[in-house]
Amino acid sequence: MNHFEYKDGELHAEGVRLSELANRIGTPFYVYSSATLERHFQVFSQALWGQEALKSPKGEAPLIAYAAKANSNLAVLQTLAEQGAGADTVSEGEIRKALMAGIPADKIVFSGVGKTDEEMAFALKTGIYQLNVESKPELERLSHVAGSLGLVAPLVIRVNPGVGAGGHAKITTGGAKDKFGVSAEEAIALYAQAASDPNLAPLGIACHIGSQISDLVPMQEAFSRMKGWVQELRAAGLSVERLDLGGGLGVPYFNQTEPPPPADFAEMVALTVGNLGLRYTFEPGRLISANAGIMISKVIHIHERESSGQKFLVVDAAMNDLMRPALYDAYHDIRPVVAPADPLKATYDVVGPICETGDTFTRGRTLPVARAGDLVAFMSAGAYGAVMANEYNSRPLIPEVLVREDKWAVIRPRPSYEEMMNREVLPEWLKPHSDKA
Ligand code: LLP
Repeated sequence: MNHFEYKDGELHAEGVRLSELANRIGTPFYVYSSATLERHFQVFSQALWGQEALKSPKGEAPLIAYAAKANSNLAVLQTLAEQGAGADTVSEGEIRKALMAGIPADKIVFSGVGKTDEEMAFALKTGIYQLNVESKPELERLSHVAGSLGLVAPLVIRVNPGVGAGGHAKITTGGAKDKFGVSAEEAIALYAQAASDPNLAPLGIACHIGSQISDLVPMQEAFSRMKGWVQELRAAGLSVERLDLGGGLGVPYFNQTEPPPPADFAEMVALTVGNLGLRYTFEPGRLISANAGIMISKVIHIHERESSGQKFLVVDAAMNDLMRPALYDAYHDIRPVVAPADPLKATYDVVGPICETGDTFTRGRTLPVARAGDLVAFMSAGAYGAVMANEYNSRPLIPEVLVREDKWAVIRPRPSYEEMMNREVLPEWLKPHSDKA
């Protein structure tokens, strides 16, 4: 469920009319709904928090560490922090943003296959909840960094469970050939190594098998393997206090099979790995923010190829603003912002202005007949949208807006062309152009 609905024939974000917003700030832009962010966080958390089998021995509910990579705007992070969210982070920048948004360090997880020494040191000094260690060289560097700071590093070992899943090959992470984590055998050896290292505190194991997963079966398979490894570690005399089961639950992108609801996921988790006498962590990203955001764009014109009749709906947003279709052939529902009175439909290729064929949002999509100047909404764009945008073709990053009921605020302004260019610096041997004359 989300809060983007038609009222009086016009698409709204909660109580805000999107055509009005477009008039005020120009297109393209991202807009997020606070109510949807909050609702998704609550639905997911309550499902897991409600499972007795997922309480820790101390009675702690699972840590829900929102995967900041999905949408790390400070206002989004703070909205979720106020709901009790922790953060799953993958860089010093994300840790800094999470802290800035009011997420306490003891609710922050730091994952990633290539953490630098500087990033590890930064994380340790904050008092972070845990580092998810993904390899032997990383474990050894972490020991060194912690030792030099006189700190003990709280860590879990990321296991690659050999079960991959996800909406696209590029977002599957748990396959045996994927770069993430170590094999189960290596995890057990590394765990023992860490347990005998005074700079390291191995607390448990972690996995994350992919993203946009629409089927509980591979997750269940991976989780039951994780349970086996927890038992194996304990049988070897090692203490295991934490189990991090990653994120990955998919969302409906309109044309795809309905992913399982969080309640079914929570039940499966409780049945598969409940009552293990440890604290659980989950790292949902997409599930929280994807359907809490949309991208609004304007139709520049419609180019109909005379020879074939093929119609290109050329919009002012492009692959640099929303990369998912270009990168993963992702499907985003495209809706008119003002519901057309005319029921007529046409088949379009929806494209942006960038000089690449990849800059195609969809091919052969049947949509209401559009005209130049019409506004269109790219739905389900709140996760992996703005965060992945770039300035290819010297197109400034598009703004982000957060709505709460009938209030709205620009939470990242559109930079001017001057601001964009002022970030670049001429070397002293190239005189500023204006001085040359
Ligand atoms: N935890 C770890 C360790 C991850 O690598 C990821 C996502 C998550 C949690 C959150 O997964 P989620 O709940 O959002 O599925 N850019 C791609 C998605 C990349 C996901 C990478 N890892 C896309 O636009 O589909």
